[in-house]
Amino acid sequence: MSEIKAKILALREALEKHNYNYYVLAEPSISDLEFDRLMRELQELEKAHPEYADPNSPTQRVGSDLSKEFAQVTHRYPMLSLANTYSKGEVEDFYQRTARALNEPFEMVTELKYDGLSISLTYEKGLLVRAVTRGDGEKGDDVTANIRTIRSIPLRVHGDYPESFEVRGEVLLPWKEFERLNKEREAQEEPLFANPRNAASGTLKQQDPAVVAARRLDAYFYYLLGEDLPADTHYANLEKARSWGFKVSTNMRICRSSEEVFDYLAHWEEERKNLPVATDGAVLKVNSLRQQRNLGFTAKSPRWAIAYKFPAERVRTRLLSVSFQVGRTGAVTPVANMEPVRISGSTVKHATLNNADFIEKLDLHLGDQVFVEKGGEIIPKIIEVDTAARDPQLGEKVRFVTTCPECGTPLVRAEGEAVFYCPNEWACPPQIKGKITHFVTRHAMDIGLGPETVEDLYEAGYIKNAADLYRLRAEDLLRLPGWQQKSVQNLQDSLEQSKSVPFERVLYALGIRFVGETVARRLANTFLSMDALRQASLEALTQVNDIGARIAQSVCAYFDSPANCEIVNRLKDYGLRMAVDEATLAGRSDKLQGRSVVISGTFTRHSRDEYKTLIEQHGGKNSSSVSGKTDFILAGDNMGPAKLEKAQKLGIKIINEDEFLNMIAE
Ligand code: IVH
Repeated sequence: MSEIKAKILALREALEKHNYNYYVLAEPSISDLEFDRLMRELQELEKAHPEYADPNSPTQRVGSDLSKEFAQVTHRYPMLSLANTYSKGEVEDFYQRTARALNEPFEMVTELKYDGLSISLTYEKGLLVRAVTRGDGEKGDDVTANIRTIRSIPLRVHGDYPESFEVRGEVLLPWKEFERLNKEREAQEEPLFANPRNAASGTLKQQDPAVVAARRLDAYFYYLLGEDLPADTHYANLEKARSWGFKVSTNMRICRSSEEVFDYLAHWEEERKNLPVATDGAVLKVNSLRQQRNLGFTAKSPRWAIAYKFPAERVRTRLLSVSFQVGRTGAVTPVANMEPVRISGSTVKHATLNNADFIEKLDLHLGDQVFVEKGGEIIPKIIEVDTAARDPQLGEKVRFVTTCPECGTPLVRAEGEAVFYCPNEWACPPQIKGKITHFVTRHAMDIGLGPETVEDLYEAGYIKNAADLYRLRAEDLLRLPGWQQKSVQNLQDSLEQSKSVPFERVLYALGIRFVGETVARRLANTFLSMDALRQASLEALTQVNDIGARIAQSVCAYFDSPANCEIVNRLKDYGLRMAVDEATLAGRSDKLQGRSVVISGTFTRHSRDEYKTLIEQHGGKNSSSVSGKTDFILAGDNMGPAKLEKAQKLGIKIINEDEFLNMIAE
């Protein structure tokens, strides 16, 4: 073996060991700095010596290759699900039924039911060769490239492992990461994930492993399969898997009576709240593999196991006060402030109260004892008020405010709408800040400013609207805490770059009520310039495809306001794009006039958004679902299987990106 190769192998082994200590044992053995140094050294050696490349090298975890469509793989052993129950009585029945069927002493392993996404990993000669999702149980998606980015999953196992085996477990997004991810998405105005399971599943379906790597998934393993397993009990096999490098829960128990099983359930129903990951129940499994074989399977699930689901967590706490939050459009949302309680892995102090009608229906009083539930939703809900526990002398009935809590303006409620609005859009601080924050988000002008910074700039009196951003002066910024030459330069650069953001995004950035990204694109491609749009009549607006009276009225109202027009004029003076650019104009045609197009999959020549724009620029219409009205589907690399099936059934033409580009270029 060459010296270089030996060095590479040694580095890989060292990095794997440190990875394992950090991600599986949570006991780091070297500093992050040192780790990065070793990683860079290995990266450089591998780059200089591609002949020693190895997909299982720790350098490959960052996920550099953009994978295409997930291949479908048939499971060697089908991935069955478990019979499940919410009833402790049925757990007892299961235990007794098992005892009768076996008619000999037996052990029952109890473990936690992790609430993530199940995955099956295949190892050959100690190396991870394939990772497949559950899919329909028979076949799943090959997500190996994504799974390789999960640091707690060994790419190579150590010790006395069999030549070939499968190990199954759950991919999870820890609570902490879940909360971090949602915070990030909130700041970017992207839809939030309702729970860690959805987040994990959305992450694993990502086509770009680099995105997966950034999300810091974790995985716990609970089932070992193969022809030559090391032990003849489930528990001992998992202990072996642990010794090879897998993260196996340390919270499994061997129970020898149903009392022990129920002790376990009672203990974890409470204790699970302190775990770093989501659990939704416990699983009981007969320990002996021989006894498992004797019990066998039904068509869907093993007879030797059952899942008990914990009841949805519901806690009682006290309502302290109700606040009313004002959003960027002026909509006022009531929020309950409660005595903090732990629920499903996090501390909860606030709950949504929806609107005035909801408060009325609950008959909510200050100081009430309330029941809060965190179901699949993001924000917990008050589901019930304990009216019996109310002291009639004390708590005042909660009433919806009649004036804006931020600026004192009387609120208005449109006929037939549940929401109250503050109409003072020009002087109500949260509306001003909200509009600026919206203006700078990624899908709008993409100026690197977070809500806190916008707040600081507003409080300092530097900005009152989006146009003010373009006249910020370096010397003023440098006076604020936290600003340095570098951050000022960054802001100036991104303001400069925003001047080449296309017109449709500038229009979206204005934050006109009901004008989201799709509507903005449609308006931009129909009217072509801000001036033309400003002059458009209500009728002209409603004549545009998909633009109804509500949107048309909102656009007219926006441009009826001299203050809005002044901001738009100033933005124009600062150099923002106020019209569809020349090249685009020249490239326009009516080749797709009246045609309805559905886009599906991922593309290489242009982004999806660019294709949407191209379709409209050639007179076509984007539609999100396949129907009899669809003229053709523009399909990229990983077209959704449901769309494909529907298109085939309806006989709709599917064209690829090259064909599409030819079609509009002809
Ligand atoms: S055992 C044949 N153990 O729950 C038995 N499953 O409905 C295979 N799960 O698809 C599953 N924690 O995704 C098992 N400790 C655990 C589990 C567990 C979570 C999931 C798994 C499975 C589903 C069963």
